[in-house]
Amino acid sequence: MHADAPALGDRGADALAGARHVAEQQGVVPWVGPLEEGPRLLGVGGPAPDEDACRQLADAERLGEPGLNPVRARTNCPGALVHGGVTVGGPPDDILGVVREHFLLDPDVVYLNHGSYGACPRPVFERYQAWQLELEREPAQYMEQLPDRLAAARAELAAFVGAKPDDLTFVPNATTGVNMAARALDLREGDEVLASDLEYGGCDLAWERLCSQTGARYVRAPIERLFEGRTERTRAVFVSHITSETALLLPVEEIVARARAEGLTTIVDGAHAIAQLDLDLDELGADFYAGNCHKWLCAPKGAGFVHVRPEWQERVDGAITSWGYAEPATFISRTERQGTRDSAAYLSVPEAIAFQREHDVRDRCVELAREARRELCALLGTEPLGPDEAIRQMASVRLPDANPDLSRRLFDEHRIEIPTMGPRRDDLLRVSVASYTEPADVERLLDALPISLRGATRRRAR
Ligand SMILES: Cc1ncc(COP(=O)(O)O)c(C=O)c1O
Repeated sequence: MHADAPALGDRGADALAGARHVAEQQGVVPWVGPLEEGPRLLGVGGPAPDEDACRQLADAERLGEPGLNPVRARTNCPGALVHGGVTVGGPPDDILGVVREHFLLDPDVVYLNHGSYGACPRPVFERYQAWQLELEREPAQYMEQLPDRLAAARAELAAFVGAKPDDLTFVPNATTGVNMAARALDLREGDEVLASDLEYGGCDLAWERLCSQTGARYVRAPIERLFEGRTERTRAVFVSHITSETALLLPVEEIVARARAEGLTTIVDGAHAIAQLDLDLDELGADFYAGNCHKWLCAPKGAGFVHVRPEWQERVDGAITSWGYAEPATFISRTERQGTRDSAAYLSVPEAIAFQREHDVRDRCVELAREARRELCALLGTEPLGPDEAIRQMASVRLPDANPDLSRRLFDEHRIEIPTMGPRRDDLLRVSVASYTEPADVERLLDALPISLRGATRRRAR
C-alpha cells in the first residue's frame, strides 16, 4: 500500500480524522472516511462524461497555428516563484528543466494535461521507433523473436508492479483491460456490479453496454456508500485507483479487501496509477487490475496491461480469436497473439521504466501538484475535493461555475493546455504535474486563469 493512500479503516485514520475535522469546521468538501460512518465527498458524483470529449483542441488546429502567443516563460530562477504576492514553491526550475529537455512536447505550450494521454520522452520514443524500424527491416525474423521479446518486456513490467510475469498481459490501453475483465465475469440477467460514481466515462459506458446486453445492472454510488448498494445479486465491485475527473487517490486496498471478504469480484481501473504510485499488485489481490503505461510511466501510446489473478485467467478472452487459441493455449497466448500488430509500444516499456528510474522527481511533482491545488482553490474561492493525501500528480479544482469555454480560451489566449471536466460538465479544472512540469508552468496558469475566466464570463453575459 502506498504510504499516502487514504485509508478506510484504522491505518491512516488519525491523519484523515484530523483532515476531516478541519474540513467540517471550515465547510470544506470532506473526504471519504470509514465506509460505515463515511463523511461525504459531496457533489463530485453524478454522470461522468467521456474525458476525451472534454475541451481539447484538435492536433491539426494546434499544428496550424504555430506560436500565436509564445508565452512559455522559462526561467532558471531556482526555488520559489511569486504569484500576486503568493509564493509557489516546489522544485526549482533548473532541476525539472533538465527533465523537460527530454520531452518532445511543443516548447511554446504550457502542457498541464499529462493525465489525458501522457507524453513520451525522446529516449523512450527513439527506442519505440527503433523497434518499428527493426520490424520493417526483416519482418519475418522480427515476428519469430517477438514472443520472447514480449515475455522479457512483460517480466520487467511485472517486476515493476509487483506481479508475476504470467499474470499480466499487454493490451493497448486500460479501457481494453477493463472491457476484458467485464466480459470475463459472464454476467447474467439480474446480476449487479457496484461502482463508484467517480469512474471514467468510457468505462462506465463499457459496463452499461454489457449490462444492457446481459440484463445485469450497473449500480453507481458515492464512494463512501459503495457497499450500501450490495444485494444478494451483487457479483462485482469496480473502482479506480486514481479517479479521472476528480483526480483523487481512492483507498483501493481497503475496498478490495472488503469486497473479497464479502465474496465479490474486484476490478480496479489503474489507468493513472502506475508510476504515480508504487504498485504491489500481488499484495493488492484484486481479481483484475487494468493499467496504462502510456500515461504516467511515459511509454509510447498504446501500451497498457491487465493483471488477472490465476483463478480468472482461463475465463479471459482476447478480443480476437487467432493462433493463440491453438492448444496448448494459455492466458498469455490467447491475449497476446491477436493477429499481425505493431508491438513496439509494449517492447518499449522497459525503456520507459529505465527512464522513470533515472529521472525520479515524483515526490517533487506531488508536492507541486498539492501546492498548485492550494493556490488554485485560493484563487477561485472554491473548496478542495479531498485532503492532500488523496492528491498525487494530478489535482482537480472546482470552478465557480461550469465553464465549457475555459479550456479553449486558455489555449487560444495563453497557450496553456489544460482540460476542464466534471460531473456537471466543465466545472472542474484538472492540472497535471509530470516530471517535466515546472513551477513556472503553474505560475503561468495562475496568472492566465483570472483573465480567461473574466473573458468567458463577459461572453456569457452578452
Ligand atoms: C480512470 C481512467 N480510466 C481509464 C482511462 C482510459 O485510458 P485509455 O484511453 O488509455 O484506455 C482514463 C483516461 O484518462 C482514465 O482517466
